[in-house]
Amino acid sequence: MSRPTPIDAYPTATSNLQADTENILQDHVPLEGGGGGCVLHKNRHLELLVRNLAQGFPARYVSQDASQPWLMFWTLQSFSALQIAIDPDTKQRAIDTIMQWQHPDGGFGGGSGQAAHLLPTYAAVCSLAIVGRHGPGGGWDQIDRCVMRLYRFDLYPMRRRDKLYKWYLSLKQPDGSFIVSNHGEVDVRGIYCLLVVALILDIMTPELVNGTPAFIASCQTYEGGFSSASHPHIFDGILAAQRPSLGEAHGGYTFCALASWVLLQPYISAGEDAPRVDVRRLLRWLVNMQGLEIELGGFKGRTNKLVDGCYSWWVGGAFALLEALGVSPHVPAPASAHEGETAKPAESGWNDADDSFFNRHALQEFILFAGQHPAGGLRDKPPKNPDAYHTAYCISGLSAAQHRVYPSPARREVVRAAWEGEDGVRAAAFAEALCWTEEDGGSYIVGSAANRVNATHPLFNLTITHAEGIMAHFYKQTVPKRPPKPSH
Ligand code: FPP
Ligand code: ZN
Repeated sequence: MSRPTPIDAYPTATSNLQADTENILQDHVPLEGGGGGCVLHKNRHLELLVRNLAQGFPARYVSQDASQPWLMFWTLQSFSALQIAIDPDTKQRAIDTIMQWQHPDGGFGGGSGQAAHLLPTYAAVCSLAIVGRHGPGGGWDQIDRCVMRLYRFDLYPMRRRDKLYKWYLSLKQPDGSFIVSNHGEVDVRGIYCLLVVALILDIMTPELVNGTPAFIASCQTYEGGFSSASHPHIFDGILAAQRPSLGEAHGGYTFCALASWVLLQPYISAGEDAPRVDVRRLLRWLVNMQGLEIELGGFKGRTNKLVDGCYSWWVGGAFALLEALGVSPHVPAPASAHEGETAKPAESGWNDADDSFFNRHALQEFILFAGQHPAGGLRDKPPKNPDAYHTAYCISGLSAAQHRVYPSPARREVVRAAWEGEDGVRAAAFAEALCWTEEDGGSYIVGSAANRVNATHPLFNLTITHAEGIMAHFYKQTVPKRPPKPSH
């Protein structure tokens, strides 16, 4: 029997909820020899996904009227991860629907006629990465209008999504952050969404992201994870250089901040005053977000809160991102200029690390036992109902637990060598984005091989094939084919 989380003599609503959750989770562990518990019920989940896509979402989703691109993305990405091809008619219907959400002044809104917002713009563009194509009616070439011109920095001639780019610039704040919409708030989720879209659509420039790495770094809290934002600090009437983080470290914000930090690496120049992230403290925080055995090893989003299936991706998926910063259980700890206070391997003892920073087996069991709803779809945890968001992120989290996807130096070289055109930061960013590779023989699948889901790109949460397809189009590059996987 697993040990319950220790309590003191003063029960609180929080400690009672934790104990109740532990009991419920334990009730979902299949009895020994009971069989069936380790099965990913792909068909049940597919039925739910198909029903939502074909018949429309049930009435209870009306509260998500401003999140229609998200409902689309969660559904399409669930199909992709579950290895389900989408037929051409359904793809076209999806493209036509997505394009109705485009705002005439650039970006996408949460629905037709809604204001453009950074979050639905990410969801719409990533949905188009899955179902879109080049050419008339394919979505990709209808994103904004394409105008060929020389950018202010003569070094960066590129095909621009003009309106989208200008809208992004209009959201930029003096501290390097971005507001999520016209008159909206600042939030690292929005910055992550902006950076992914800018990178995919080839509108990333040094001008756009000037100051953004420093803002991201300022959101790291004393715990090691990241909060939603940071704020200016006035001391004795003078604006201090240091910006305190705003709020509590949280798995969702931490994923967004870390992915942003990794995306921004080609745009950060090394030097004394380069912004720094404390990667070691971040790793410690991430590791501690994995629940105990009695919580089935699911992840929680913040200290002293409950495990929840969606953090299987937001936290479970973050470990792969650390590999881009040289922090891998497979190699000694990093000594790069950007890793700030990272300890030397000999001091940290990281050389002794196992081949994973989290318990991949336990996370898969949490998702299979507790994340799956018996009627199809995945959820936060029992006894909750499934929903589109948790279905997508439980499946993506399952993927993160099953596969090691890492930035392959060999693949980086191959992509770089095939690059045609000016060899600058744009070429570097392209190669960094597309060097992520699924390790051969690196899959670890709990249950039968039928439980396997596709690997997902750690930065974008798209399959690697979809990421390559859309980026090849917008950068006008040919992405070299990957060698066929050895059959096992
Ligand atoms: C707390 O909810 C949740 C948040 C404060 C925000 C979470 C952010 C994400 C999941 C990232 C989303 C990313 C993008 C790209 C849009 P809660 O109090 O209900 O949950 P908790 O108890 O688990 O913290
Ligand atoms: Zn959740």
